[in-house]
Amino acid sequence: MKMALKIWRFDSVSGERALKEYEVDAPDWATLLDLLDIVKDRHDGTLAYRKSCRMMICGSCGMRMDGAAVLACKTRMVDIAESGHVPVISAMGNMPIVKDLVVDMNPFWGKIRSVQPWLQPGYTEPGEKEYVVSQEDVDVIHKESLCVMCGCCVSECNSMEADPEFLGPAALAKGMRFVGDARDRATVERLQSYSEEHGIWDCTRCYFCNERCPKGVDPRDAIAKLGAEAMKAGIDSDMGAKHAKWFVTSAKTTGWLRETELVPKTQGVVKSLKEVKFAMGLFKHGKVPPPVPPHVAKHVSESRALYDLVKQQDRGGADGIVQSEKALSRLELAADGEPRDPYGEGSFPKPFLPEKEPAE
Ligand code: SF4
Ligand code: SF4
Ligand code: FES
Repeated sequence: MKMALKIWRFDSVSGERALKEYEVDAPDWATLLDLLDIVKDRHDGTLAYRKSCRMMICGSCGMRMDGAAVLACKTRMVDIAESGHVPVISAMGNMPIVKDLVVDMNPFWGKIRSVQPWLQPGYTEPGEKEYVVSQEDVDVIHKESLCVMCGCCVSECNSMEADPEFLGPAALAKGMRFVGDARDRATVERLQSYSEEHGIWDCTRCYFCNERCPKGVDPRDAIAKLGAEAMKAGIDSDMGAKHAKWFVTSAKTTGWLRETELVPKTQGVVKSLKEVKFAMGLFKHGKVPPPVPPHVAKHVSESRALYDLVKQQDRGGADGIVQSEKALSRLELAADGEPRDPYGEGSFPKPFLPEKEPAE
């Protein structure tokens, strides 16, 4: 069948960029990567993109389709072609483009290296017996271990756009893979390092990385686990950590967020004095509730009971983080165990499919 796509071409040497449209004959099982192969093979040999395995495992073929990062070899095109929509293919975001759909992954690898993605077992000579890891212990880091380092999450990361030095979702998910590893003995050092500036607490929790990760790693959940593990280990000097702690205290004591005290509690008294003028402005406009007497919610007992329950269950650290979704089962199988419609309810990455034109 005929399939069309538009590709943003870019030459970093000349700086020229152009949106070019191609139409190819392709089988109905073709993926985006198959279409690119056909374009390169039969229409324009100068097109540049990365690929290797063609089976969603090497992580080479990350790119954007209609502004959303996808693995090209995972993205079937038949529905899009049938809808009449011509998708726009472009390079991933947050990384400099080298040519066409190829980005410079050096900053990505630098951040991966900076989290020390290797096991630190605390010994140099192996013991006489092998270290047997229980299935339960493996399950803790199962999702994080699925990362194929494609960069799709980094491409969509809002924090990274604002602060290119932010460690980012892929590196932090890799960090959790080792923090959660029962054999690793560098947990505290790792948590300290990941909690520094540009680390765990600089994530804005936009959840785009969870949405775009093609392997179900859910990097934002991994970052939440790191934050919880850091708190559990008493590593809470970062403002983000203090902020989170104050949320808990507020909810427990009044059932509300005690905003008036939020700044002094997280930034310290000296820094908050500098904000007095700003605070007075807010106060004048009725935006700051008076701190005394504290506004206590009518059903604050429910909030306290919830706090007590979590404490009783001893779900400190990563154990207390509820996975946002069952991403793995969502990837391939529906709840009834049947293969899932890749563009149906709950599937992802879900390409942008515009409404079909209404029939005349
Ligand atoms: S976390 Fe997901 S999106 Fe990010 S690099 Fe790993 S596999 Fe790719
Ligand atoms: S949730 Fe955090 S790490 Fe993930 S994309 Fe958003 S800002 Fe980046
Ligand atoms: S070519 Fe390997 S993941 Fe797509």
